[in-house]
Amino acid sequence: MSLQTVVYTLDPAAMDAELIRRAAAVIRAGGLVAFPTETVYGLGANALDAGAVRGIFAAKERPAHDPLIIHLADAADLPRVARDIPPLASELAARFWPGPLTLVLPRGEAIPAEVTAGGATVAVRVPAHPIARALIRAAGVPIAAPSANRFGRLSPTRAADVLADLEGRIDVVLDGGPTTVGLESTVLSLVGTPTILRPGGVSREALEAILGPVAVWERSPQALEALPESPGLLLQHYAPRAPLLLYQGAPAALRATLLAEARRYQQENVRVGLLLAAEDVPFFADEEWLIEVAGSVADLETVARQLFAALRALDAAGAGVILARDFGVAGLGLAIRDRLTRAAGGRVIEVTAPADEV
Ligand code: TXA
Ligand code: MG
Repeated sequence: MSLQTVVYTLDPAAMDAELIRRAAAVIRAGGLVAFPTETVYGLGANALDAGAVRGIFAAKERPAHDPLIIHLADAADLPRVARDIPPLASELAARFWPGPLTLVLPRGEAIPAEVTAGGATVAVRVPAHPIARALIRAAGVPIAAPSANRFGRLSPTRAADVLADLEGRIDVVLDGGPTTVGLESTVLSLVGTPTILRPGGVSREALEAILGPVAVWERSPQALEALPESPGLLLQHYAPRAPLLLYQGAPAALRATLLAEARRYQQENVRVGLLLAAEDVPFFADEEWLIEVAGSVADLETVARQLFAALRALDAAGAGVILARDFGVAGLGLAIRDRLTRAAGGRVIEVTAPADEV
């Protein structure tokens, strides 16, 4: 597989219609186009073309049993891809689309089995990014798109991240600058009891304002065995190259443990990368760490936006191990914790404060 990957640079506020037309023609011809959404960059193909969809799996080296999200330009197109759409779906669409919410619904007949990994349900969303919507509209077909990274790696938030993983494997990259949300969409199943399958850009609290209490699917080895058809929910996923350890706990104890662990690794001549909050930085001054600050604990939108780029930066700087702090579970914290837990592949350390410190 060796293609010439073409990059079209677009200003989201003033798009060159000719470049959108060319990219849309590539989609209609069965090719692969990476494009920005508000969450992360997606790798798109015509969702109605089984061969094109197989191309996505080949380019990403993604196992065929991991289903894709279908992207629409408008909620009005939902009946093209799903059936038996409950009123609740329309209500959620009216509130959250365009935006980072993916709904899992019964699969429409036009959708090839390749998209849904043979399953009876389909995942669908209307992205909020002007380039994404212009591309889908110009193509005139729903676009199936996973995140535009090699399978198991961090999702791309910049065109350069896409090229690092997929150059020579896809036809076009639309470069619309860095994405604004920075983490993938929330995946909400509306088949049976509404359940969050993957926390993401729409918070649990925002969904609960409409739905009342919403279950969050627990990612445990047991739960994974019970759900073999959704391995996108795999534990080890969204991973930087360096092993990552996630530390959870109250701030003072968390910092003390991070500092002690960082020194211990350093003594073993392991280059330590720290993923910190802005509030942590004064405690880590004057030593030879690689530090990436994702943002303030008081501003989780910024943390979400910068998280993947920060992890990529620690990899690029040569970290031998990454020690990351947790950001809680309120609002976007839940999605941030989900991604860091997966990057940690289960290496999550609960820090308990000494009795005199609380
Ligand atoms: O923000 C996003 O969701 C980005 C942008 C490009 O839209 N896309 C994305 O796609 O993150 P991907 O393929 O990397 O993750 C899709 C997730 C996977 O965990 C997959 O298993 C799950 O959605 N999924 C897809 N179809 C499903 C279905 N029918 N039932 C349950 N889960 C599904
Ligand atoms: Mg992905």
